[in-house]
Amino acid sequence: MENNLTQEVLDKITKTCTCKAIPRSRIKDAINSGAHTVEAVSKATGACTGGCKGFRCTPTIEDLIEKHLKKQ
Ligand code: FES
Repeated sequence: MENNLTQEVLDKITKTCTCKAIPRSRIKDAINSGAHTVEAVSKATGACTGGCKGFRCTPTIEDLIEKHLKKQ
């Protein structure tokens, strides 16, 4: 329980897409809602559309998608 809470808080404060200030929690929500490609996550959240054009956040998003798909 405590670990889940800590993870939840960390997900809310950690910006996966720093250019657009999009928290990891929002990325995870999109993935849980069926966005299973970087393009789909980008479309749902606006990630990868900032100044670096996804250079920094794409690898992290790919990682989160992979972890989510492995859990299924
Ligand atoms: S960090 Fe996501 S677009 Fe730059």
